Amino acid sequence: MKLTTSVLLCLVAIFISLPSGAQKPSIEHGPWITNVTETGFTVVWTTAEKTFTWLELAPDDGTALSACKRPRFYNTISGRRQAGTVHRIDVTGLEPGRGYRYRIYGKIVTDDSSAYGTAYGPESRMTTATVKTFSQESEKCSFVMVNDIHGKDETFKALTQDIVPGSIDFFLMNGDMVSYINDRKFFLQHVYDPAAELLASTPLVYARGNHETRGSEAHFFGQYNPTSTDEPYFIFRHGPVAFIVIDAGEDKPDSSPEYSGYADFETYRKSQLEWIKTATKCPEFSNAPLKVAIMHIPALKEKSSYFAQLWVNEHFLPALNDAGIDLMLSGHHHDHIYIQSGQCGNKFPILANDDTDRLEFEASSNGYTISTVDTEGRITSVYNQNGKVSQDE
Ligand SMILES: [Fe+2]
Repeated sequence: MKLTTSVLLCLVAIFISLPSGAQKPSIEHGPWITNVTETGFTVVWTTAEKTFTWLELAPDDGTALSACKRPRFYNTISGRRQAGTVHRIDVTGLEPGRGYRYRIYGKIVTDDSSAYGTAYGPESRMTTATVKTFSQESEKCSFVMVNDIHGKDETFKALTQDIVPGSIDFFLMNGDMVSYINDRKFFLQHVYDPAAELLASTPLVYARGNHETRGSEAHFFGQYNPTSTDEPYFIFRHGPVAFIVIDAGEDKPDSSPEYSGYADFETYRKSQLEWIKTATKCPEFSNAPLKVAIMHIPALKEKSSYFAQLWVNEHFLPALNDAGIDLMLSGHHHDHIYIQSGQCGNKFPILANDDTDRLEFEASSNGYTISTVDTEGRITSVYNQNGKVSQDE
């Protein structure tokens, strides 16, 4: 049938006249996967409009997703399902070290003014991706880390574009991914969009840097990055490696004029210190053959060190020494710094990655290998548990 101009105009008019709720929902940012454990994970994404969403789960076993009724998971608070623009769905009851496919569905809320009847737009499938749970039984553990990107999308893309989703166990952002969070949209756009495909199917571990504590909307950081402790510090385990993610907070004294009275990191660090002493004693952590501390600000001590760095060197470092940490990975300095064991009270090496490199880590129960790689894909340094490895070897 040949459509005349008048018929086409009529169709366009009908489409424009539809209420916004008649549109299908679409994802604005994400999804990304956080808080991965042996038995679950959390999927986070945002939509522009208030949307009722859910997630369907299936093992990654080659069966058709529509082969049978798949379990559904919702964003719930105390038993009530939530609609909104930020979607956080906890998936639970899984098996360790197993691959799963998840599908996100939603429908836009067009009218929820009545407590006894909500009107929705059409239901739509929003995306499908895969993810694998962690397992202590895994023989290896691998991840890629970036840090100090400060909103530079091109650097972020150059450092991540050749990482094959599913080829690593998780992706680690070690702080200062943006310079401040004055605007959540800016934060979402520069943290989760540049590597969107990777983050949809690779667990994300996000260690907060001092810059993520800045700005009028900085307190929303946790909303987008749920953890097992509901704080930016937490522990997790995969294969032979136990990880402790620590947060040094702001780098200068809380009384610094640029914080405008908002900073209370001295109290925060003190309570975190007590948590470190307890958390590192749990068997999941203490029994691990290899223990890695992740902290944006390295716990080193030098003449140019700011207040927080000196504080964590004096207080966090002895607790981490007692916990038997084997390695600390950091950023913050926009430079490549390797501090050998014993240089500043540390009983383990501290490696601060440059802002122009990604850090590739792989470990087995026999030890670990680290390579740093620049934006051109060139290896810039190699380390193992014995120290720096000559690249001529
Ligand atoms: Fe920093």
